[in-house]
Amino acid sequence: MKGFRLGSLLLESCVVMAPLAGISDLAFRILARRHGAAMVTSEMVSAHGLIQGQKKTFSYMRTLDEEAPLAVQIFGADPAVMEEAARIAVGSGAAVLDINAGCPVRKVVKTGAGGALLKEPALFERILARVRRCCPVPLTVKMRTGWSHRSREVLDLARIAEGCGVDAVTVHGRSVSQGFCGNADWDVIGEVKARLHIPVIGNGDITEPIHAIAMMEKTGCDGVMIGRAAIGNPWIFGQVRALGAGLAATAPGLDERREAILTHFELLSKLEGGTRAARRMRGLLLWYTKSLPFSSRFRGAITSITDTSSLMDALDLFLDKLTAAGAAH
Ligand SMILES: Cc1cc2nc3c(=O)[nH]c(=O)nc-3n(C[C@H](O)[C@H](O)[C@H](O)COP(=O)(O)O)c2cc1C
Repeated sequence: MKGFRLGSLLLESCVVMAPLAGISDLAFRILARRHGAAMVTSEMVSAHGLIQGQKKTFSYMRTLDEEAPLAVQIFGADPAVMEEAARIAVGSGAAVLDINAGCPVRKVVKTGAGGALLKEPALFERILARVRRCCPVPLTVKMRTGWSHRSREVLDLARIAEGCGVDAVTVHGRSVSQGFCGNADWDVIGEVKARLHIPVIGNGDITEPIHAIAMMEKTGCDGVMIGRAAIGNPWIFGQVRALGAGLAATAPGLDERREAILTHFELLSKLEGGTRAARRMRGLLLWYTKSLPFSSRFRGAITSITDTSSLMDALDLFLDKLTAAGAAH
């Protein structure tokens, strides 16, 4: 399973991490890279927020060399604002710039941004043309399949994107109106791939490593993007790479799991400070322990814990209990 090229950037493998608002912060992204994601993406960043210099908006782009290459995803509907925001994002260290043309959240769509761009091909083209002109790094667009179920605007818009000089498109196989319901339609990803010359990254419903291989085989896509399945499970990136190399996708043992959790927590503490880290980590622990035996009691026990050391004590107790019970992972 080879990497692929995004313009001037050669990715070391074909598996990348999806943007996840509220989740894909710097600590999460570093962990994803350490575990084999070839590229990580910031959560979506408001173009308006950037040009207005909003501190919180800028915090989403905070980066460290270790996570490179970082794609910064921006959203907006005003070509001039998007152009200026692109310059700012690149100036802040984005190795790749990604445009959001899929977000279904009302607050975003009602401004004409995100998924609403799928209904406005002329505006979509103007935005991409302007951003392309000012953007010296590889440019990508992340799209859904269409505005409504079966409308398939992505087929034309992906061509428009290619015509504007975009370096790759990502297709999440759901329509905007679907939100996260139903299944991702991988056939549309295959149709987009068949129409374009630039790389296509497939996305949607890769919940097991083997699904990534299946998506590539079914659609012919050049890369796969994984979102929800990586939350509390950074191993999935390495597992996909192992499968692609003809090796087994081994599940992490308890010690490995403990180590990753501690690393995640240390990164969060260093980057965000102890109190915020403890709050974030409590949520993440629910994900990290989701598939483990006896996890529901552990999850119940930590809901009222607010300080770091008690949280870690509870985790140690839980993992020790699993080890004693002979649970392999
Ligand atoms: C909590 C959450 C936040 C998300 N935030 C973004 C975002 O900021 N930008 C974006 O393009 N997609 C966002 N998505 C969509 C994901 O990137 C991805 O397209 C979708 O989850 C399907 O992939 P998956 O099945 O691998 O999760 C988000 C999804 C979730 C669940």
